[in-house]
Amino acid sequence: MTEEKVELRRGLRDVYIDRTTSSFIDGKIGKLLYRGYNIDDLSEKSTFEETIYLLLYDKLPTQAELDEFDGELKANRHLPEEVLQVIELTKTAHPMDVLRTAVSVLATFEPEVNDNSQEATLRKGVKLTAQAPTIVATHARIREGKDPIAPDDTLGHAANFLYMLFGEKPLPEDARLIDKDFILHAEHGINASSFGARVAASTQADLHCAVTTGVAVLKGPSHGGAAEEVMKMALDIGEEARAEQYVKDLLAGGGRVMGFGHRVYRAVDPRSIHLKDDARELGERKGQPKWFSILASVTKAMEPYSRRGICQNVDFFSGAIYYLLDIPDDLFISIFAMGRIPGWTVQVMEQFKNNILLRPRLQYVGPMDVEYVPIDQR
Ligand code: ACO
Repeated sequence: MTEEKVELRRGLRDVYIDRTTSSFIDGKIGKLLYRGYNIDDLSEKSTFEETIYLLLYDKLPTQAELDEFDGELKANRHLPEEVLQVIELTKTAHPMDVLRTAVSVLATFEPEVNDNSQEATLRKGVKLTAQAPTIVATHARIREGKDPIAPDDTLGHAANFLYMLFGEKPLPEDARLIDKDFILHAEHGINASSFGARVAASTQADLHCAVTTGVAVLKGPSHGGAAEEVMKMALDIGEEARAEQYVKDLLAGGGRVMGFGHRVYRAVDPRSIHLKDDARELGERKGQPKWFSILASVTKAMEPYSRRGICQNVDFFSGAIYYLLDIPDDLFISIFAMGRIPGWTVQVMEQFKNNILLRPRLQYVGPMDVEYVPIDQR
């Protein structure tokens, strides 16, 4: 067979599929903007609520607008009784499987489920953003035999998540760490899960389909699953002095250091710089500086790779923060997902606004015109 000549871009590496105004990534210097605003400013000066208002409405809110938006988020934190029952039924599954299933079930209770207008999609995105922490925290408690904790309207989005998870109002500084973490995970262009969400939207499936897809795609260790793996690696290393040899052995065996490498960044992922400072400070505050030291030694051992553009990504330090806040390791990806729902929503809104079916091609390289042999003659 003569192979058809095609331009093959495996993994869609460096393929631009559309235009966006939601986020800008400069992978060479490690820069990330949401709607033109640098994440360095947003993560230090903004809140998750304000940042996602910016993403969803394409402008920073006034105080009155932010208050109203915050009220809308708070009003949507509760889950239908049937979804609580599904969480109970699926409680032994991985939290990401439970989140994906619960989002899917929520679609069946959503009166606007099939309305793909910009306004309805935005409303549904806000609802799902508000509901996701309740799903994750409820599941985490139910599987431990504890009663779920109802959302507390006096608490912000991040603080309320920690409250529903642990049953105690968190220290403001701990809530701020999760708030910042959510900001840093909120949006990131056409990454694998957002691409999945956009493919769903491109068929004119609704937001719940797209977010279900986003959660499914995020679960993989090459994408959102890396934070959990990084902390497992740190626990496995156990002592700072062992880090260098551990990394050498891992790489010599053809393994990958989780939390390193990125399809777009050839420099340090700017999100990881903020999480690095947070991980160090939290470790010191909790009297457990060892995990940061181990990760810092891994970074040092990876210097030859960093010089080739394989640098630490957003997942490298986030796991240590969650671990030090006593969050179970299998919830790490769910925290990423909670932060990313607004990002998936804006990507879906953009896709709907100027829709085109996302449908690439595969080059066929198998046999041709094979004769069919009836089953009794094979
Ligand atoms: N450790 C060691 N080597 C690595 C790593 C790593 N973490 N990442 C990439 N490399 C090497 C590859 O072995 C490959 O080397 P080669 O050219 O000699 O074969 C080269 O760098 C390029 O790697 P690719 O897999 O082609 O790069 P790609 O862009 O496809 O992959 C990915 C990006 C999947 C993130 C990869 O870097 C990886 O597996 N990292 C570890 C998992 C991880 O941290 N994922 C989170 C990413 S951030 C996010 O999704 C939120």
